[in-house]
Amino acid sequence: MTGKIIGLGSYLPEKIVTNDDLSKIMDTSDEWITERTGIKSRHIADPVKDRPSIMVVKAAKQAVEAAGIAPQDIDLIVTASTTPDLIFPTMSTTIQEAIGASENCGCFDVNSACPGFVAAYNTVESFIETGNVKLALVAGVECNSNFVDWTDRGTCILFGDGAGCAVLKAEEGKRNEFIMRSSGKRGTCLHCESARQPYRKDEEGFDKLTGFNMNGREVFKFAITEVPKIITDLSVKYGFDLGEIDYFILHQANQRIIEATAKKLKQPLEKFPMNIMNTGNCSSASIPILLKEMNDKGMLRRGQKIVMASFGAGLVWNANYIEY
Ligand code: COA
Repeated sequence: MTGKIIGLGSYLPEKIVTNDDLSKIMDTSDEWITERTGIKSRHIADPVKDRPSIMVVKAAKQAVEAAGIAPQDIDLIVTASTTPDLIFPTMSTTIQEAIGASENCGCFDVNSACPGFVAAYNTVESFIETGNVKLALVAGVECNSNFVDWTDRGTCILFGDGAGCAVLKAEEGKRNEFIMRSSGKRGTCLHCESARQPYRKDEEGFDKLTGFNMNGREVFKFAITEVPKIITDLSVKYGFDLGEIDYFILHQANQRIIEATAKKLKQPLEKFPMNIMNTGNCSSASIPILLKEMNDKGMLRRGQKIVMASFGAGLVWNANYIEY
């Protein structure tokens, strides 16, 4: 069995913050950010209108409508998020209720930071492969602006907010393949505390919250080393040629990481669609938002061979091969 994407949805907050806007509130410039990351602007969530549970429901409703399915027929919802507004219940059960899926629908969330959508997608694929799931919704949603340290110009300029969803339908056919890898020993390269830490006080005596904490250079080196390698390993393991691939859909973290990956794989950059310039890094929502945008532009056609690859905190990196 194989999972086919039959519907896509996405949501980006209305508020757009450009690099020039950021340069008015911190010591940075459009030139610095563009040159190092490719990012020109990002969408930033409104604290009330764009809570993650609201953003992801909007994207899910769009995906279900595009798929033309009855929500009651969905067997499984898996949502990837690292920045949900609720620790529990899950984002997935929030979606279930909002779209009118039945109580026969399994729901759980995946926290795997930026690689979360591909992790969730691979999880759903595995359920489809067992024959237990015929119709599933896989989602990614992030409100990074709630957690970045807005006094850390080396990190906060990278991230954006949004949500994306795909409906997957089980069909007869060769199963989709994936590889998942992780390196917990490098976890401190990129981490974020979940709540105020009572054991550590800030200057004013309040429990300290660090927000996103990153060693940018280490993460950059990790990404440009491991991403080309995992894609090559996937092609060797499952016997496809990189030249056959129509699109390499990479996590949108940094234009230079994507360019370096294309170069190392000796593949034309046109096969690496990008929207990072207008979205920033939306963590686990980045790939489904990009897929939806590609679909809207008429870039996706049945039978196309696609590799998705993502990387981030953990450190975790993963890749999958699908036929659209
Ligand atoms: N504007 C202007 N200057 C900035 C800046 C900003 N927003 N952020 C940092 N700088 C300064 C630094 O203070 C430093 O100044 P110094 O030389 O006087 O000390 C200088 O720019 C270089 O900083 P550095 O951190 O070494 O820059 P870099 O070339 O490594 O680029 C990143 C920083 C974050 C853009 C880059 O490392 C990166 O993209 N890493 C990957 C991060 C990522 O994708 N994370 C998410 C993975 S899912």
